[in-house]
Amino acid sequence: MDLKSVLHMVGGAGETSYANNSSLQKIAISKARPVVEDSLLDLYCSSYPESLNVADLGCSSGPNTLSVIKEIINATHEKCHQLGRPMPELRVFLNDLPGNDFNTIFRSLPVFYDRLEEEKGLPPWKCFIAGVPGSFYGRLFPRDFLDFVHSSYSVHWLSQVPKGLQGEIGEALNKGHVYMAESSPPAVFKAYLEQFQRDFSLFLKFRSEEMICGGRMVLTLLGRKGEEPSSGDCCHVWELLAQALRGMVSQGAVPEAKLDSFNSPHYTPSAKELKAVINMEGSFHLDQLQITEVNWDTNDRDDNEGFIFYKKTSGQNVAKYVRAVAESLLTSHFGEQIMDELFERFAENVGEHLAKEKTKHVNFTFSMTKKV
Ligand SMILES: C[S@@+](CC[C@H](N)C(=O)[O-])C[C@H]1O[C@@H](n2cnc3c(N)ncnc32)[C@H](O)[C@@H]1O
Repeated sequence: MDLKSVLHMVGGAGETSYANNSSLQKIAISKARPVVEDSLLDLYCSSYPESLNVADLGCSSGPNTLSVIKEIINATHEKCHQLGRPMPELRVFLNDLPGNDFNTIFRSLPVFYDRLEEEKGLPPWKCFIAGVPGSFYGRLFPRDFLDFVHSSYSVHWLSQVPKGLQGEIGEALNKGHVYMAESSPPAVFKAYLEQFQRDFSLFLKFRSEEMICGGRMVLTLLGRKGEEPSSGDCCHVWELLAQALRGMVSQGAVPEAKLDSFNSPHYTPSAKELKAVINMEGSFHLDQLQITEVNWDTNDRDDNEGFIFYKKTSGQNVAKYVRAVAESLLTSHFGEQIMDELFERFAENVGEHLAKEKTKHVNFTFSMTKKV
């Protein structure tokens, strides 16, 4: 699978689109806001530059894309107002893989610029927004160019399905699963970890070339709390998808070999694994690491006393956001015709699971400074 050309979130603004099914990522962005603001303002106040080059990597398309940019503009604008300084010129670069629905973002820009002018009195020449298609596992920007880099829910995607998931004669090693599972053989955990170490290290190396010395980067990604590679907080959701596929295999709707040869190209590291790569690569100083949790069912806010659990509704809510993210990958491997049934089965499995155990996603948000 050539991931660069296959992976994209469901585009547009329809019922199954990422734009309408990204509540999980929206919550993650709001939980990370204090870290983003701290890091950005610290950078700004270190030299009060007249312009800032900002990149959002893995921006996708939908309300989250411009909400992150709005946060960055708001924080800078407020600070400048407090200090009585002119607003710096913001040059914002939205990056994602070429299959991303950049058109939907571009179409929403005129309204975005109008609002900036109405709400903040900012003329359009104070904020320039451009799209940069390409993989963040390669160079995207000129040398010493970026001041601030942000990325949310993107860097847990690997550059490819780990090669080590096949044995010496090409046999599938992770039979019946689609990600690391409790019963996966040790070679599977090793292959995933090694791919993550290679990819994340490359990601840091390329960013260090593109960023100015003292530039800041804030990344939020899915991770896991324990060191155990298949711990429930990060892997079980994929095992419930595998369970749905196994059910379809047993009914002859999916060939067994198809299931055995599919593995999701993402990795949920532990904090220790993340820090080890940052230290080993050596270009960045880790300033802050925040660990937060979000319930699988995003309608279930821990502060929302009115929430009543319904197995079916919770299962469907989770299935919708997983489908908006994973459909392109699953369709390219299994074909479009099984998607509706697959996600109905998956929703049921998730509902059953949540009826037994409330489960949370674990997010790592960490801010870094490029070393001099
Ligand atoms: C779950 S979406 C997150 C989007 C947005 N940041 C948010 O928080 O709602 C992950 C995005 O990362 C992008 N992505 C994954 N791998 C990438 C890569 N190697 N280079 C650039 N973008 C990538 C995907 O295409 C997808 O749009």
